[in-house]
Amino acid sequence: MNLNTHIVGVGGYLPERILSNEELSTMVDTSDAWIRERTGITQRHILAEDQQTSDLATAAAQQALDDAGISVHDIDALVVATTTPDMIFPSTASIVQYKLGGKDFPAWDIQAVCSGFVYGLAQVDGMMRSGMFKRVLLIGAESMSRIVDWTDRNTCVLFGDGAGAMVLEAKEEQGGMIGSVLHCDGSYRHLLMAEHKYEGNAPGKKVDFRVDAAGVAAVEMKGNEVFRVAVTKLSEVVGEVLEKYEMSKVDVDWLIPHQANIRILKATAKKMQMDEEQMAVTVDKHANTSSASVPLALNHLYRQGKFESGQVLLLEAFAGGFAWGANLIRWSK
Ligand code: UT7
Repeated sequence: MNLNTHIVGVGGYLPERILSNEELSTMVDTSDAWIRERTGITQRHILAEDQQTSDLATAAAQQALDDAGISVHDIDALVVATTTPDMIFPSTASIVQYKLGGKDFPAWDIQAVCSGFVYGLAQVDGMMRSGMFKRVLLIGAESMSRIVDWTDRNTCVLFGDGAGAMVLEAKEEQGGMIGSVLHCDGSYRHLLMAEHKYEGNAPGKKVDFRVDAAGVAAVEMKGNEVFRVAVTKLSEVVGEVLEKYEMSKVDVDWLIPHQANIRILKATAKKMQMDEEQMAVTVDKHANTSSASVPLALNHLYRQGKFESGQVLLLEAFAGGFAWGANLIRWSK
């Protein structure tokens, strides 16, 4: 039996609060003009104090389930790609399973920062083709506002919160996932990171764990060095995924890139010789939502009814690690 992984439901969620460039300019030494020109961002969504990543994930997942016309009881695995889990453990996926009202199916998180959804799609696709699961809920969800330093203009202007989700179903019909390529090069790990702060805690030490030893340091990034590598690697990976699956640039109908910077998006579209109208752009309104960015960008075009059955979508992302990759999909919904 030859199984293919089809997208049968799509959803997204953005928290209500919008933080504009103008408002940010009252908090740090920046300007709407600088942020727009260098990144394309005009605003970002910020989760409420009483919300957590699992809440954003649950809302996006419920929309994807509704879109597929099924309930959580029809799902047999749930995966959350996140960099900003509610807790160190349990996994955010197990919390989302509970919040959706599901039970008794495997749920786990994956961590590949902004490439988390692209990695997740590759992982889940392999498992579904092998017959392991029939229907999987894959979610990318982030509360980046919780891990940025709101006094650092180099990073705080870049990120936003949100979640995107897909219901995937293994079927014998042709179409759906064509395939993926993934990469990681840990020699670049220091250029984009957020450290855990566990120092001070060891056997025999009497530290107040909550106050002195635990915590997450804010995002640190050497922006222009990340930028240079991102443009090069993304341009390579889109060529690589097409070559691997014996396709060419003209076969691709829609480019769904990770939304970090409009200049990076445009460079990849140029490499693909694609019109900018064929590319999903949400960075202006969402900023960089890390692992949520690709599914939210896909959801943005999907809600406008842009995809036609048989069209080819190319998803790509670049992340801290550095970890990057791409997925090719033949739209079959
Ligand atoms: O999602 C994972 C992947 N992430 C990315 O791909 C991000 C990649 N990097 C970028 O998108 C860009 O490098 C940034 C948007 C982060 C920065 O843009 P840039 O054109 O590379 O600027 P830069 O870092 O070279 O900084 C240029 C100047 C500096 O001032 P000086 O040293 O030239 O006087 C910065 O201090 O811009 C200054 N600057 C700002 N000015 C106003 C940096 N941030 C700001 C700011 N407002 N928010």
